[in-house]
Amino acid sequence: MGIASNIHPLWYFTVFRDPPVHGYKNGGMLLYHSDFRTTLSFNNMNLNILTDKRILLGITGGIAAYKSAELVRRLREQGAQVRVVMTSAATEFITPLTLQVVSGQRVHTELLDSEAEAAMGHIELARWAEVILIAPATADFLAKLAYGHANDLLSTICLATVAPIIVAPAMNRQMWQAKSTQANYMRLQNWGIHCLGPAAGLQACGETGVGRMLEPMELVNGLINLFKPGPLAGVKVLITAGPTREDIDPVRFISNRSSGKMGYAVAVAAQAAGAAVTLVSGPVSLTAPVGVPVISVYNAQDMFEAVMAQVDEMDIFIAAAAVADYRPVQLATHKLKKQESQLQLMLERTPDILAAVAALPQPPFTVGFAAETNNLLDYARDKLQRKKLDMIATNQVGITGLGFDSDENALSVCWVDGSVELPRNSKLSLAYQLIEIITQRYQRRAKF
Ligand code: PMT
Repeated sequence: MGIASNIHPLWYFTVFRDPPVHGYKNGGMLLYHSDFRTTLSFNNMNLNILTDKRILLGITGGIAAYKSAELVRRLREQGAQVRVVMTSAATEFITPLTLQVVSGQRVHTELLDSEAEAAMGHIELARWAEVILIAPATADFLAKLAYGHANDLLSTICLATVAPIIVAPAMNRQMWQAKSTQANYMRLQNWGIHCLGPAAGLQACGETGVGRMLEPMELVNGLINLFKPGPLAGVKVLITAGPTREDIDPVRFISNRSSGKMGYAVAVAAQAAGAAVTLVSGPVSLTAPVGVPVISVYNAQDMFEAVMAQVDEMDIFIAAAAVADYRPVQLATHKLKKQESQLQLMLERTPDILAAVAALPQPPFTVGFAAETNNLLDYARDKLQRKKLDMIATNQVGITGLGFDSDENALSVCWVDGSVELPRNSKLSLAYQLIEIITQRYQRRAKF
């Protein structure tokens, strides 16, 4: 089995602004996030998971680099093979010689390396790595990663690899809270790059707050968790996202303000839980998470056909797209000219994709979305029953900064005999919480 199918992205360590509703558990490990504080407890069920794993440790220039030697030792104790790449700033905090001694390997610092085979050390290292852990990851390096820079060995390796990348941020608390750092961090997470920490506590600068790198053993356990199968391992999930466009004439269409952010965030969270995710996406300007195939569609009919072509294979279907309910009966072949003071457009219903999936003889576990301004649960329950869904997530819309085309949302999730409120939060955090609820309900249904 290749590493891509063996590994599951980080399920436990993505930092939430609010703690997950139920917390996450696996193999004796329990982790809560609260105010970016991380508490870990673990037992010794993790033996051998890192044995022979090829881990490339990237060290960037922060004071926490002094912990890197200890981290290498801990990783090697677990049986991992470790190679170290340092930025030039990192070498100001800890010497390459120290890392060479503890790793038992030559340490790499230069992009142009005449000693590497074909002088392309970055490609060799990018291919060698099964996973890349960057610890500490400075604010500057997060920014580099978020914008695809390749002006040193480590950033170039990150661009050239197919291995999962994990960052362990470490910086002053104010730098961590800076809007640009948070935006970069969010951008990385949306691409499926995983984050371990940071933790809160006393910082080297004398301030107290969030920004400390996790301790070496916490990082080791984070990696161990990565190599464990996630709760949705082996489960196939189909997700619709974004708007549809219904053409009126060659230059005009009917659409809505959906950005696709909610659906794409759900794809990140489902993949992080170990699922094999496929996205059917209307026109959006987002990049799908690495490893998630995207079927791009234009209008509701295209989306219907793409979903129906895939759905027989799927275990879970999540309809986060804002599909147009109506389309013009006739598509004008030429641009409509201004003539009368009023223009009437005759519209007809589009196929209801969600209802069609739920009505299949053997439907997948089917989750709908709905956008409502009031009476969320009443409307949600009505849709749940009418469309025979397993679950529905209703958005609170009509509040500034929530719902359509925003980074935040709030959800009321309900199923036949229960419901849960997921208060205002980033779409990514909500997506993780939603996937946790879906996982529980899906597993319960699978038992009967
Ligand atoms: O994309 P973002 O900017 O991040 O915004 C996210 C969102 C607000 C679009 C998203 O969270 C959301 O609520 N999506 C569904 C919005 C919607 O159109 O709801 P609805 O009540 O019209 O439809 C109910 C359900 O039926 C939805 O799951 C929808 O995907 C599905 N549907 C609707 C019509 C149709 N023809 N086919 C469908 O499958």
